[in-house]
Amino acid sequence: MTAPSENTAEYLQALSERPSAPLRTETFRQTRPSTVGPDAVEPPFPIFLSGAVQKGFGRGGKDLGCPTANLPDESITPMTSVCKPGVYFGYAQVYGLSEQEGKVHPMVMSLGWNPFYKNERLTAEIHIMHEFKSDFYGHDMQAVVLGYIRPELDYTSREALIEDINTDKRVALKSLSREAYMKFGVDPNPANGGFDQERPSL
Ligand SMILES: Cc1cc2nc3c(=O)[nH]c(=O)nc-3n(C[C@H](O)[C@H](O)[C@H](O)COP(=O)(O)O)c2cc1C
Repeated sequence: MTAPSENTAEYLQALSERPSAPLRTETFRQTRPSTVGPDAVEPPFPIFLSGAVQKGFGRGGKDLGCPTANLPDESITPMTSVCKPGVYFGYAQVYGLSEQEGKVHPMVMSLGWNPFYKNERLTAEIHIMHEFKSDFYGHDMQAVVLGYIRPELDYTSREALIEDINTDKRVALKSLSREAYMKFGVDPNPANGGFDQERPSL
């Protein structure tokens, strides 16, 4: 087995100490771009992930108004082996829901140790930008990660983290509105395997 590249989430996870995250500053808040990444989807993206949705600590929905679906540890290697921790954007789809809820929706993802909450375990948490009527733990989910937004930061208040997450959502939607990104959001017929159906032509 080859050693994971430096600075990837997988490499950092193997260290005895969790990486320290910079504290979010006012300058960072004021200078955030509204679109991120190149106009074309460039390697290592797109990265496809899939797995059954797991329960996190449940703080995303309760504390932050931003529920997140966690992917199982073994399913996030395609991402952790090539990406640094941080906030990413793309699309996600949950199977076994109604036609409307089971569509491909835009998503934002946090990959890391949630420095504000000082988690010990590396997680990949996906917030799907759709108001779901109920929880979907245990359902299969598929996601395609298309770009990087920002590093994970530490915060002095919950409100500041919420403000950044709201900005992340706006940045994701704007970044996804470019042609090369939009094609990944085409609503595939779930009966034909959702994103899987799209993969060979990418
Ligand atoms: C788009 C997005 C960005 C996030 N950015 C950060 C961050 O910069 N720092 C941080 O500590 N946590 C960040 N989080 C993670 C939240 O802290 C996390 O979702 C929360 O702890 C809820 O997790 P839980 O439901 O498993 O408890 C982010 C989450 C999302 C969805």
